[in-house]
Amino acid sequence: MTTTDRCPVAFPLRRPGKPFPAPEYVEYRALDGLVESVLPTGARVWLVTRHEDVRTVLTDPRISSNPAHPGFPRPGKTVGVPSQDEVPGWFVALDPPEHGRFRRTLIPEFTVRQVREMRPAIQQIVDARIDAMLAAGSTADLIADFALPVPSLVISSLLGVPKADRDFFEAKTRVLVTLSSGDEEREAASRALLRYLNRLIAVKRKRPGDDLLSRLLAEGTLSGPELSGVSMLLLIAGHETTANNIGLGVVTLLSHPRWIGDERAVEELLRYYSVADLVAFRVAVEDVEIGGQLIRAGEGIVPLVAAANHDGTVFERPAEFDPGRSARSHVAFGYGVHQCLGQNLVRVEMDIAYRTLFERIPTLELAVPVEELPLKYDGVLYGLHALPVRWQEGA
Ligand code: HEM
Repeated sequence: MTTTDRCPVAFPLRRPGKPFPAPEYVEYRALDGLVESVLPTGARVWLVTRHEDVRTVLTDPRISSNPAHPGFPRPGKTVGVPSQDEVPGWFVALDPPEHGRFRRTLIPEFTVRQVREMRPAIQQIVDARIDAMLAAGSTADLIADFALPVPSLVISSLLGVPKADRDFFEAKTRVLVTLSSGDEEREAASRALLRYLNRLIAVKRKRPGDDLLSRLLAEGTLSGPELSGVSMLLLIAGHETTANNIGLGVVTLLSHPRWIGDERAVEELLRYYSVADLVAFRVAVEDVEIGGQLIRAGEGIVPLVAAANHDGTVFERPAEFDPGRSARSHVAFGYGVHQCLGQNLVRVEMDIAYRTLFERIPTLELAVPVEELPLKYDGVLYGLHALPVRWQEGA
């Protein structure tokens, strides 16, 4: 069957009752060329599922991240990558060379060394959440009580966002990453977040603290509106992603206890779940051939990182959770110039979260059968809505 004979498939492929990543990815990787998909907007996009092709898409200069280009795809009816007019400083939506100015400004804040210095603060946040859970009894929703607050408190403290405002920005973020959010609701959430950050930046200008926002203000490379947009990107990118990975990882470690405390588990969990499967959207700005498929200028492309990370030609027995393998070449954080800025931080957060949780609550177990866990099918990110757990009193 040639590419043109195939009917476009509906998007996204992640659906209730189906395993993740979608079983169709196996079939698509084996086909010649690429598979077309119809987005909820009615637009068509090319789905990229082979590891090699995903890396090519994410590095080819004829393929852009900028939604200002005609044909740029949106994952939901309203959800999409904001343009620089909507949110200046949303640099994940810029191509080189403009993108480089932001990246160079921010990279020193997220180096392995810099993140290592954050370890004691992250440990304190994790311990405080576990203290609160233990004090409240012997059951918890591990998403609401642990997986979400930990990265949320870490990114707020790094940026200099007051702890008390966590509920506000988490609620707004949820609207922005839910595929079914309405237009007005989304715009209102985005405006409210930007207004909030503008006010916070005005306060930091007068009273700088020991935080990333104050350091960026002092450095002066970014304009005021750009700084608000950068902060919004970091706040949003910095908590839901990690929260989903922490939650799913706990479920897997509970059924594979021999890997608890082994640092290799973190990398394999990142590969295995690839929660940001629907994050990297692109458009061709020139005609380009990917995986034997001609893509015309103006056509949308979705490199599916979960599909790439389950490509059997790169990862043997990809559906198996095996931290003993070398998962380093996974693309859960993307690839190329936009590769996740927060990846060093994520690794440390996940490592401390799992280590401390299982050390301090060794009797931790699921409070419902694994099949009853509510998985996210309506989000840009894969994860769990809730994770009911229990433990023996006195743990
Ligand atoms: C498990 C957690 C995370 C995953 C799976 C993840 C995944 C990704 C992916 C796939 C991209 C590439 C997007 C693209 O190419 O269009 C990306 C970019 C980015 N991520 Fe993450 N991310 C995570 C956590 C974080 C955290 C904690 C932060 C912030 C502290 C962060 C900040 C960013 C930023 C700023 C970018 C854009 C980088 C650029 O355009 O240069 N992420 N992330």
